[in-house]
Amino acid sequence: MELTIVDNYQEMSERAAALVVAAVETKPAAVLGLATGSTPEGMYARLVKLSREGKVDFSRVTTFNLDEYAGLAPEHEQSYFYYMHHHLFNLINIGPEQINMPGCDLENVEQFCLEYDQRIAAAGGIDLQVLGIGGNGHIGFNEPGNQLRVSTHLVDLTEDTILANSRFFKAVEEVPRQAVTMGLGSIMLAGKIVLLASGKAKAEAIARTVCGLVTTEVPASFLQLHRDVTIIADREAAALIS
Ligand code: GLP
Repeated sequence: MELTIVDNYQEMSERAAALVVAAVETKPAAVLGLATGSTPEGMYARLVKLSREGKVDFSRVTTFNLDEYAGLAPEHEQSYFYYMHHHLFNLINIGPEQINMPGCDLENVEQFCLEYDQRIAAAGGIDLQVLGIGGNGHIGFNEPGNQLRVSTHLVDLTEDTILANSRFFKAVEEVPRQAVTMGLGSIMLAGKIVLLASGKAKAEAIARTVCGLVTTEVPASFLQLHRDVTIIADREAAALIS
C-alpha cells in the first residue's frame, strides 16, 4: 500500500484527480470505477475544471459506479445516479452509453448483479477504482460483519451507515435500508485502487485499514492484499496511523 498524507481536503482532491487524469492519458479508453459520498466531490470538481480546460478527455472512457441505494428513483436527489450526473457526467464529455450504474429494478436484482460483473469483465476490467471509506471501514456498501461477498450484490445497510448517511436526507426514516454494491472481489480485480479519506471521522477506519489485521470487520483492510493501492488521506484522517 502506498500512503500519501496531504495537508487538507483540497490537496487530497487535486492528487486524486491527477491520478484519474494520468490513467486516462495512459489509456484513453480507460475503465474507471467511481465512488460517491462527500469525499470525492472535490476530485470531481477538479476533473470538471480540467476537462473544461481541455486537459483531460473522457470521450472514450467507460465508467462503473460502485454502489447505489436500492429503491431510490434515479431522479431522487440522493440517488447516486443523480449525484454522479450532477457532479460529473453532465459536466464532462461522456455519453450515457459509456456510463454504468448499479441501480436496478429490485425484482430482478440477482440477474442484474450477475450482469453488472459480466459487463465489467466484458469492458476489460476496471483500470482505476476510486474509493471512499465509511467511518466503520466499509468500502462501497460492503459492511463490516462475519462475512463479505465477492460479487455485486444486494446488501442490508448497517445502522451505523444509515445514521451516517441520514445527514443527506430530511429524516433518518427516509434513508434506504438496502443498496446494491460491487463486492470485495469486484473491487479487488481493479488494476489500480485509490482510496480517499478526509477528516477525523475517518481516522480510526484508516488506521485499521493500513495497519490493522485483515478482517471482515474492517472491509477496507482487504486492500492490504491488493498490489497497487494508493491511499490519499489528509492529516486528520491519517492521525491514528502508528
Ligand atoms: C457511503 C458510500 C461509500 C462512501 C462512504 C463514505 O455510504 N456507499 O461509497 O465511500 O459512505 O461517504 P463520505 O465520503 O460521504 O464520508
